[in-house]
Amino acid sequence: MSFYVKNLLKTMTNKTENIPLNSRQELVSAARQVLRNNIHDGFTRPAPSLYPHQWNWDAGFIALGYVRSDFQQACLELSTLFRGQWLNGMVPQIVFSNHPVCKYFPGYRFWQTKGVPAKPKNVRTSGITMPPVHGFVLQRLLSLAPDLKASRPFFRRMFDKIVHLHQYCYDFRDPAREGLAFICHPWESGMDNLPTWESVFAHIQIDPSEVPHYERVDLEYVHEDHRPRKLSYDRYIYLVNRLRENRYNEPEIWQHYPFQVQEPMFNAILNHSNEALIEIGQWLRRDTAQLKEWFGQTQRAINDKLWDEVRGIYVSYDRVQLQQVPILTAGGLLPLLCGAPNEDQADRMLQLLQSPVFAGTAENPAWLCASTALNEPQFDPCRYWRGPVWININWMLYQGLLRYGQTEQAERLRNESLELIRRFGFWEYYNPWKNLPAGEQHGGYGSNNFSWTAALMLDWIGE
Ligand code: SER
Repeated sequence: MSFYVKNLLKTMTNKTENIPLNSRQELVSAARQVLRNNIHDGFTRPAPSLYPHQWNWDAGFIALGYVRSDFQQACLELSTLFRGQWLNGMVPQIVFSNHPVCKYFPGYRFWQTKGVPAKPKNVRTSGITMPPVHGFVLQRLLSLAPDLKASRPFFRRMFDKIVHLHQYCYDFRDPAREGLAFICHPWESGMDNLPTWESVFAHIQIDPSEVPHYERVDLEYVHEDHRPRKLSYDRYIYLVNRLRENRYNEPEIWQHYPFQVQEPMFNAILNHSNEALIEIGQWLRRDTAQLKEWFGQTQRAINDKLWDEVRGIYVSYDRVQLQQVPILTAGGLLPLLCGAPNEDQADRMLQLLQSPVFAGTAENPAWLCASTALNEPQFDPCRYWRGPVWININWMLYQGLLRYGQTEQAERLRNESLELIRRFGFWEYYNPWKNLPAGEQHGGYGSNNFSWTAALMLDWIGE
């Protein structure tokens, strides 16, 4: 454990509602230190060793950690990421560092994006995308910019690039023009290992000869019980192979492609970014008619296609099997972020959030909010996205709850997130059970010194 987290843990108190100043200062300087230590090649790595390149949505969340202390670096996080934007508008999930400090799999060579016509020539990237958080991140940067006049050219540039990304989502990932973008790989959801994907894969026949040889590196850094299983990795690699064999040739490739899922969080993020871009566009005196049309259509489609009336939450839709995938995940609550649910729908989701499904029971209480609901058969409190709490999900859910006037629930979510950080440090994900099994002291998993955990805490504390 590093020196500053040891220090941080020494100064912890049990109260989160009123963080004493000393402790608050300790938290802030420890979080800033995490971000600084992860800077390399001009951007902030998501984690010191597990993720040594630049990741798409990480860059957005990380920018929020700098916005109050180092506005230039906040802008840099976005502009370095968008150097990797493809000519069709797609912003890749990974922009590879030319001088990585650690090994990573799958690296640039494995993706075989070199020579793909849409990829920018001088930047090394993967070939899939991630949830488009950049619009609402840019809006937050705009609201906190120290010198609006000086940064106007930056906002103008970024606005165009992000609109291009949204155009890509609607042109290439919404073939039926429904207003919903599909993801073509679990990694595109950012929530790689949800049980939702298992249900989708259950319908996909994979011949083992179609899974190329690969060697994982993640298990050198993180315990295997906390990472995806081999079967899941085989499936991830199978899909990468399908994409690279077809030279990422969109939209033709989608005609016979087995994994196409319309996921509620991805689309809620897209739509929240649409509304953010409308506001930024108005400030820049741009035409926002297209953005408004997208916003309205996506808002309707999220409700028409992804709302599960039986469970009272949003779920994914498998557009190959033509059916909803009825698995309860934190992502299903995220349409609160863009204002899609009406009051009744929002109430039903709030009930779930306060029920044993997400909050546990009096005897066995849970920190909000488990990534996979506590009652799902594949729930696992320690494994990647199968149950652990993630700070970025909580941060977005917090914004959604505030939007619906649920201040008390929002505060609870924020306080529980801060408490997890104070107890355990800046981990990638946390065990959702408040009472850890006897003998288990530590509830933080994945990578320590995780950038967005630090960044979003800074945003919360700075509010
Ligand atoms: N999160 C994935 C990984 O674990 C890739 O985006 O490597």
